[in-house]
Amino acid sequence: MLYDVKDISLYEKGKLRIEWARREMPVLEIIKNEFKKNNTLKGCKIGCCLHVTTETANLMIALKEGGAEVFLCASNPLSTQDDVAASLVKNYGISVFAIRGEDRDTYYDHLNRVLDAKVNITMDDGGDLVSTIMKERNDVLDEIIGGTEETTTGVIRFKSMEKEGVLKYPIIAVNDAMTKHLFDNRYGTGQSTIDGIIRATNILLSGKNFVVSGYGWCGKGIAMRAKGMGAKVIITETDAIKAIEATMDGFPVMKMEDASKIGDIFVTVTGNIHVIRQEHFNNMKDGAIIANSGHFNVEIDTNYLEKHSLSKRVIRESVEEYEFKEGKKLYLLGEGRLINLAAAEGHPASVMDMSFANQALAAEYLFKEGKNLENKVYSVPEIIDKRIASLKLKSMGISIDNLTKEQEDYLSSWKIGT
Ligand code: ADE
Repeated sequence: MLYDVKDISLYEKGKLRIEWARREMPVLEIIKNEFKKNNTLKGCKIGCCLHVTTETANLMIALKEGGAEVFLCASNPLSTQDDVAASLVKNYGISVFAIRGEDRDTYYDHLNRVLDAKVNITMDDGGDLVSTIMKERNDVLDEIIGGTEETTTGVIRFKSMEKEGVLKYPIIAVNDAMTKHLFDNRYGTGQSTIDGIIRATNILLSGKNFVVSGYGWCGKGIAMRAKGMGAKVIITETDAIKAIEATMDGFPVMKMEDASKIGDIFVTVTGNIHVIRQEHFNNMKDGAIIANSGHFNVEIDTNYLEKHSLSKRVIRESVEEYEFKEGKKLYLLGEGRLINLAAAEGHPASVMDMSFANQALAAEYLFKEGKNLENKVYSVPEIIDKRIASLKLKSMGISIDNLTKEQEDYLSSWKIGT
């Protein structure tokens, strides 16, 4: 079996951590047992480009138990948990190509090693596997039935490929499932981003001006949790509707030009480029802390910091101090890469349970139906979304009401008014 991990001897710690996460992933566990019983994915090769975490490990194991051959590389150079990578290889016989801190060339080499396996399904988080296929690996297209995409950024990339007519195979947008973005993006990013900032800095959030840039589901989650920790949360937005929503949720909304003058901590979650740039760095107070929790490391113009600071040092793990004239210092967390995975462990397992249940069932759907789909971006079928919600509720011991016959009739009729 081929693999490239940092240190295979780390496997024991990884195995224990994977088992710990599994306790919080009951929905994926049910799907894994079904897959195993029915050999659902027998004969399917799945190439995955995901954050190599304990939660991803449990997804890989579920796919393998279902009969698939699985190949995994990292979707970010800084998010790999090396002990997990080692355990997947050693304990579970899964080909992993991922090393925490790998350079750009190694990152793309690892993607190519997954593609060398001539996989039938791609499972992306951010779209790098598909974009590599499109740019330089057309040779693997013949074997591919379809792909899935985990995150908002990837779905945006694929929709733009579809619009330009260049998408080469059907993609299921897992991110668009209700049981994904309403929970993973909001409660997952909310908690894990705060976790990453605290682990990196150990600062008190209470009383701080905490600027969140972007009020999508991720931004809403971060704002909610930072507020809960006593921070004074400020929102910046470019979308008028989201800006009204933030205002009505009780947060001051302002331009980054103004927020940059008063913020103590900044977090970007916009999915866009250079949201914090030269003019904002210039406005910032001495000691401002800057982090990103969006998928790519483009939201903060880190090149500016590199080129225009007088000096730089790593002051703590995951914290770089940039010094400017008159002794002003700015602190960049996790090199501007997603802070929840760079400085913490990503979203907790309980929320990844639903995201990865969607991934597993989307892979099954593609394996069965992919040949009948067009080269478009599809939503996860509603029946899968609803099933995952029901299974999650059941695992939490929560029962809900059923509609009565009268209520069903009422909802399907236009005749009854006042
Ligand atoms: N994305 C965010 N958190 C994650 C996690 N724990 N595992 C995999 N992907 C993630």
